[in-house]
Amino acid sequence: MATILVTGGAGYIGSHVVKELLRQGHKPIIFDNLHTGHRKATTDALLIEGDLSDQERTAEIFRANPIDAVMHFAGDCLVGESVQNPAKYFNNNVKNGIKLIEITEQFNLRKVVFSSSAAVYGEPKEIPISEEHPCAPTNPYGETKWIFEKVLQAFHDAGKLDFISLRYFNAAGAHPEGDLGEDHSPETHLIPLVIKSALDGSSVPIYGTDYDTPDGTCIRDYIHVVDLARAHILALRKLDQGNISRIYNLGNGNGYSVREVIETVKKVTGRNVASVDSPRRPGDPARLVASSEKIREELGWSPRYPDLETIVETAWEWHRDHPKGYNDR
Ligand code: UFG
Repeated sequence: MATILVTGGAGYIGSHVVKELLRQGHKPIIFDNLHTGHRKATTDALLIEGDLSDQERTAEIFRANPIDAVMHFAGDCLVGESVQNPAKYFNNNVKNGIKLIEITEQFNLRKVVFSSSAAVYGEPKEIPISEEHPCAPTNPYGETKWIFEKVLQAFHDAGKLDFISLRYFNAAGAHPEGDLGEDHSPETHLIPLVIKSALDGSSVPIYGTDYDTPDGTCIRDYIHVVDLARAHILALRKLDQGNISRIYNLGNGNGYSVREVIETVKKVTGRNVASVDSPRRPGDPARLVASSEKIREELGWSPRYPDLETIVETAWEWHRDHPKGYNDR
């Protein structure tokens, strides 16, 4: 059993990882400012409310608990917002992240798992994207994730920590037990928006129908949030080996277009989805599909829910049962 500090553990991906940690017999401690996370997503774990900008508060947690590892999810993650308000992203995702690892250094804590993103790659030069693909983020959000990976590498090179950075492609779905799901405000992600349309008849904009793809709409690699969560447990185990600095992609390796997602939601829900062809959303690459060979080979990871229909089914069940999300703000 290990005690794991989970920053951002009340968020969408963090809460699923916390549930997996509990299932494996670990003791997660959630540190979350609840700006975007949900108290109701944290019921079975200790929640400490606070912000990483407050370094003394983080130090108090380390003083009071025998922390073995940190999983760092806390951060802002909206591409569009990062373009409008870069200061927010550099402050929260980079500066506050550094504040965290200054504390881990102070307390001789060596194991860090970091929540990174496919956004570090920018417009891909080849598909599927491997970890060797050059990084050229096209927005401040992706830039901050890439910078923080380099910060972790520098701390590793200085002998201060070990880390595994996981570059998520499109996280989707909900916990099959029905207690955790995706609830962002505002919601910008495709699958929850299409499901909302199936529920309330609202119309989904299709951002761009003239891409160089078979049906003209963008292609993404959707990965079930529980499969992401399971990868974090494997990363934690890998860090036990010591002297580790690794970056892994996490995707299924299958691409689905926006229109295919809409068709899948129609099939799963048996309901109509209204959509309207709309202009491209600035900064959207035509295709993002992962090669996750490295994490399959090195950590033995494989997805349990690789097909889009299953991913959408779990999301549908959660949204159908929680039409107002967690409704706790
Ligand atoms: N889309 C629509 N209509 C919508 C919402 C989205 O057509 O109403 C399209 C987007 O243009 C995109 C696809 O659906 O082609 C998926 O969009 P999402 O917003 O769900 O996800 P993104 O691919 O934009 O973003 C995800 C993560 C980000 C990460 C990014 C990597 O959510 O955190 O992948 O580029 F940065």
